[in-house]
Parts: sequence; structure tokens; C-alpha cells
Amino acid sequence: MAILKLRGVGKNFGALEVLSEIDLDVEKGQITSVIGPNGAGKTTLFNVISGRFPVSSGNILFKERDLGRMKEHEITLAGLARSFQITNIFQNLTVWENVFLAVQTRSPKRMSLFTRFQKLDGVKSQTEGILNRVGLSLWKDTPAGQLSHGDQRHLEIGMTLATGPELLLLDEPTSGMSPAEASQTMDLIKDLAKDVTIFLIEHNMDIVMNVSDHIFVLNFGRKIAEGSPEEIADNQEVCRVYLGGV
Ligand SMILES: Nc1ncnc2c1ncn2[C@@H]1O[C@H](COP(=O)(O)OP(=O)(O)O)[C@@H](O)[C@H]1O
Ligand SMILES: [Mg+2]
Repeated sequence: MAILKLRGVGKNFGALEVLSEIDLDVEKGQITSVIGPNGAGKTTLFNVISGRFPVSSGNILFKERDLGRMKEHEITLAGLARSFQITNIFQNLTVWENVFLAVQTRSPKRMSLFTRFQKLDGVKSQTEGILNRVGLSLWKDTPAGQLSHGDQRHLEIGMTLATGPELLLLDEPTSGMSPAEASQTMDLIKDLAKDVTIFLIEHNMDIVMNVSDHIFVLNFGRKIAEGSPEEIADNQEVCRVYLGGV
């Protein structure tokens, strides 16, 4: 079943057409990736899906609901979360405090059914759970700014889990990482995918080919190919786009 469907999605910034006629389905429970050269429109695709920018044309359906008229926070509450290409953490707060604040401020309204005391307890245990999940429990009292770059990115992924998303959009989670850090992130993404549908923008081809169930290729704002990792590796147009850029 497709948890996310785009039909004829286009996005212009003034006269600049950044996305054109994008049709794509993200299947529930899978890891779906978007690849393409710099400036292809990948981040813009995530910006229109997450409600940061309105689409210029077409429809976006998340769990069969049209996101067209929904605000960014409403989309988050509906179960769609995203991370950013640039980290978004509070450097001077501890790892624990960053996640705790994310849980407290981003949790859906249903939390207000709890009494205040139960609510605090719930926030604490959710914070523990997230730190465990992203492998940062040992660093919980460390100021976030002192973490390695890789761990800061993992912390940010943890913060995106605070809303309990069903679909998680990750924009270049391994950018700036050492190969060892990137390989840890790859394991983390695979582990998260047991519970959350993952939609990933990734430039590291080893990771894309290793984790993805399905891959979309964008070039100049158009979808030029889609398929399994094997199909994409064999696709001549995709090879031309990538080799042409080297
Ligand atoms: N807010 C914006 N206003 C104007 N142009 C933008 C904006 N965001 C992105 N663009 C342009 O859209 C194109 C695609 O950018 P982007 O989606 O960031 O590509 P990618 O993530 O694939 O590298 C680029 O030409 C970029 O300059
Ligand atoms: Mg980008």
C-alpha cells in the first residue's frame, strides 16, 4: 500500500520551474530513495511534501489525505516528519535536553489526555526510548555541540522521532560524514525502517544501493527513472546523467 502518493506535482519559484509533473508512490514499510545531481529539485520535493512550500500544481496524498490545504504542523501531526540537510539542534543543551524538548513540544495533542504528572513521566520515557533507539544513551548528559558530527546527525534523527511519525523524510543524513559514520547511519536507517516508512535523499551511492527497496531519479526537476537498485544501476539514462556530471 502506498502511504504517500504524488500526482502531477509541479513547483515554480517565479519563472523557475524546479519540479515538473512528478508522479511517485512511497510504499508503506519500505525504504524509498531519491537521487539526482545537485540542483535536481530533491530538497524542494521534500519541502513541498512536508508543507514548507505550497505546490504549484498537482496533488500530494498522505494516507489518502490531500496535504494541499494543510499547514506544516498539521502535516507533522498527521504522522509525517522530516530531518533537514543542516542540523537543527541546540548546541549548548545536553543530548537528553534536546530530545526531551523535542518530545515535549512536538508530541501530538493526545498527550494532553494525561495528567501533568503522567505527562512528564511519559515524556521522560519517550525521551529514553528515542536515545536508545539512536544509540546515544551513553551521551545523554553531553552538550550536543560536543558530539561528533555523525552523532549530531543521529541526535537530529532522534528528535524527528518525537512526533511518532509513520513516514520519515531524511534529507542527506550522511552529508559531511566519514565513511565509518555513514556506515553507522546506514545501520540506523535500516533499524528505523522496521517501524517507520523511510523516504530518503542520499548522495552516497553505496548507501542508496544497499538500503533502498525502490529508487526515484530526478534530473532538472523531472523524474527520469524509477525502480529497484538493480534496475537503476542498469539504467542507461541514469548512468549518462551521473557519468556526464563527472
Ligand atoms: N526557496 C527557493 N527559492 C528560489 N529557488 C529555489 C528555492 N529553493 C530551491 N530553489 C532552486 O531550485 C533548484 C533545486 O534546488 P534543490 O531542491 O535544493 O535541489 P537539490 O536538493 O536536488 O540539490 C535550484 O535551482 C535552487 O536554486
Ligand atoms: Mg538538497
